[in-house]
Amino acid sequence: MKQPIIIDTDPGIDDAAAISIALYHPNFDLRMITTVNGNVGIEKTTANALKLKRFFNSDVPVHRGAAQPLVDAIRDASAVHGESGMDGYPFPDVKTSDLASTHAVEAMRKALETSDEPITLVPIGPLTNIALLLSTYPEVKDYIKEIVLMGGSASRGNVTPLAEFNIYCDPEAAQIVFNSGLPITMVGLDVARSSTLSHDSIDALQSLNKTGDMLHQIFKHYKGDDFEKGINVYDAYTIIYLLHPEKFNVQEADVQIETTGTLTKGATVTDFNTRYPNCTVVMSVDPNEFKTMFINALQYCD
Ligand code: RIB
Ligand code: CA
Repeated sequence: MKQPIIIDTDPGIDDAAAISIALYHPNFDLRMITTVNGNVGIEKTTANALKLKRFFNSDVPVHRGAAQPLVDAIRDASAVHGESGMDGYPFPDVKTSDLASTHAVEAMRKALETSDEPITLVPIGPLTNIALLLSTYPEVKDYIKEIVLMGGSASRGNVTPLAEFNIYCDPEAAQIVFNSGLPITMVGLDVARSSTLSHDSIDALQSLNKTGDMLHQIFKHYKGDDFEKGINVYDAYTIIYLLHPEKFNVQEADVQIETTGTLTKGATVTDFNTRYPNCTVVMSVDPNEFKTMFINALQYCD
């Protein structure tokens, strides 16, 4: 049974891995890709989504979204993903005509309201678009199956000691999403750190297929945390979780977002002892099992 999904993204090297699988895996019906300011600015994240659309010769629509966070100043992770946000591969030239004319929020609203079944939202960048959608059109909640997002951490951060990048970029948006009342699954730093892919595993992608070769080349430019130990393909964990949720160790929790602390802003304050959980936190997965699931999923790609 195909899962209808929408990916909201800030490509983003690890975003590219998630999008690759979602586009090809038979278990997904990727309705659209929406872009958000995050790893790099909206112009570049949108251009990168269009590069992937062209690379895969995909007819999945790409809609441009928010150019800045709800409240905070724009931040950037080009030190991790490169100046373009997806350095390392000679992607085909972007055709601006490939960009759908409707804003991401409007496009998501229409797709949700006209879908024959509820859609799973998969945000893998800052949550600005999702917060704008839920705040502008709260009625669309009836058409959202669940939100499976890459963001947050039940332990340490990767941008500050306590904050993960996607949440840190727009904590106010994250607070709106986590308190929306929708089924939320937080695929944070924890699960990726429990199953870091070795550099050898990433090198092996080169001979898998054309997509594997592309990912291998861009991952060589990825300077994510723990880079000396291996590669944390953070965003891909959302997609692999949707394919094999039973393989992951999860815990229910109440997650609230710190939006004011000088040293703690962007932290996902995770209370596992609550009687009123608002989300499922994906905590860990067997490293060998994750590697197998990741490679098997990529084998569907061209
Ligand atoms: O903290 C990891 C997240 O920040 C990933 O989504 C990565 O693409 C960056 O956006
Ligand atoms: Ca991302």
